[in-house]
Amino acid sequence: MAQPFSDHPYLTGHHQPMRFEAHAPDLIVEGELPDDLHGVFYRTGSEPLYDPPEGYHWFDGDGMVYGFFFEDGRVSMRNKWVRTEKFDAELTAGKRLFGVFGDPATSDPSVQGVRYNTGNTNIILHNGKLMAVMEGCPAIEMDPRSLETRDYLDYGGTITGPFSAHPTVDLTTGDMMSYGWMINGPQGKPEIRYEVIDKNGQITNQFTFEAPYMSMVHTALVTENWVLVPFNPLEVSLERAMKGGPMQAWVKGRNSRFALFPRHGSASDIRWLEMPGRHMFHELNAWEEDGKLIADVAAANGTALFPNDDGSQSTHGDTALELRRWTIDLTGKTNDIKEETLNDRDIQFPRPDDRMMTRKTRHGYANLNLNSVDGRVDGMDGVIHFDTKSGKEDIYHFGNGAGCGELVFAPKTGSTEEADGYAMSLIHPANSNTTELAIFQAQDVAAGPVARVIIPYRIPSGFHCNYYSADGSLAEPIFA
Ligand SMILES: [Fe+2]
Repeated sequence: MAQPFSDHPYLTGHHQPMRFEAHAPDLIVEGELPDDLHGVFYRTGSEPLYDPPEGYHWFDGDGMVYGFFFEDGRVSMRNKWVRTEKFDAELTAGKRLFGVFGDPATSDPSVQGVRYNTGNTNIILHNGKLMAVMEGCPAIEMDPRSLETRDYLDYGGTITGPFSAHPTVDLTTGDMMSYGWMINGPQGKPEIRYEVIDKNGQITNQFTFEAPYMSMVHTALVTENWVLVPFNPLEVSLERAMKGGPMQAWVKGRNSRFALFPRHGSASDIRWLEMPGRHMFHELNAWEEDGKLIADVAAANGTALFPNDDGSQSTHGDTALELRRWTIDLTGKTNDIKEETLNDRDIQFPRPDDRMMTRKTRHGYANLNLNSVDGRVDGMDGVIHFDTKSGKEDIYHFGNGAGCGELVFAPKTGSTEEADGYAMSLIHPANSNTTELAIFQAQDVAAGPVARVIIPYRIPSGFHCNYYSADGSLAEPIFA
């Protein structure tokens, strides 16, 4: 029998798990639902089935996927857990069996040899396959419409270990650039596996290379021809854990290092770059321009997500992420990375018009913290649209205490121009038992939502969202 949940900042308030699966065939919409929106908005997050008695981390809950389907002038919704081996074992037992992040020292002996997978970090459509991903495991496939869990995607037995939670899909070519870190386990050599998977699901390039240390690699910056893999000084160390320190920690004073190589290159092509220690898990976009790689990223000089290596803990305020531009010389004249701040607002997940991922973009979207002490715990209370060319910001505040999810771009049916469409975000208003999917004009966020899809209960705060338009070839299987 399920027990009441612990009093933990990531298990209460905006984060309190709802723990049920639902289907709503025709949700109430306030305002005008645009008639040129035809597609699906997916959102995943961490929604533990059982209370974790040994402690908890925000990234440690079972993956729950929500799908909002915009078709025929209505919005339907479905949500389902990602049915991993971990989920099945714990549901059978009626309690949490795994320690935090699957720590064997605090896991129930019955799950020895069972893969720790939550599938909770991102939900991506590629080659017609809906992929629930977390780092540490291969992608697990879900039915794009029913959200039933299928099986692991191993690409013909080629990828059986860790996969990226942030593969980059280049919608111009259909290629997906991915990687895995900790592929030899926490005690093995710190190697990275990189691959290109084409629009038909074929691996067209794959190689491994040695990382400078066991760094948590959450994203890679990809342009039309290049890949830049960042190694933040966020290190996993069993040695430190054995001495009673944190297993995963921000190593103060250590530089960030970057592996730069051609998208279709090999390990022998890698050039290493370096800059002072940066926390960078999410990029807005990256592209090539005049012999340079330009990357617009959410970055900070530390992080509160994990403890520091000396046991101290940074605060959200000290380490708030802001939009910075990194410029890298591709000709090899210098290994320096130039950094400038484009906007110093406290943001979480920056996003472009995904159709232009890896190509030059001007517009960006993010959820934003205006008045919360800690946006991750208390809620990111606003959303922002950046015009990185003019520097203009375009903000909407949902009121103090609101929790806004990732703001993603959704193209108008048939549009091709950058930012010609809408932007949407899942919002939990303060002190409310409802949630809304707010839909904005993509270039006038400040005007407020043109439509609000009302979900008559509270959806917990989550992680990544993606919108797939029905006129994009990648989404065809859902709307055929
Ligand atoms: Fe992420």
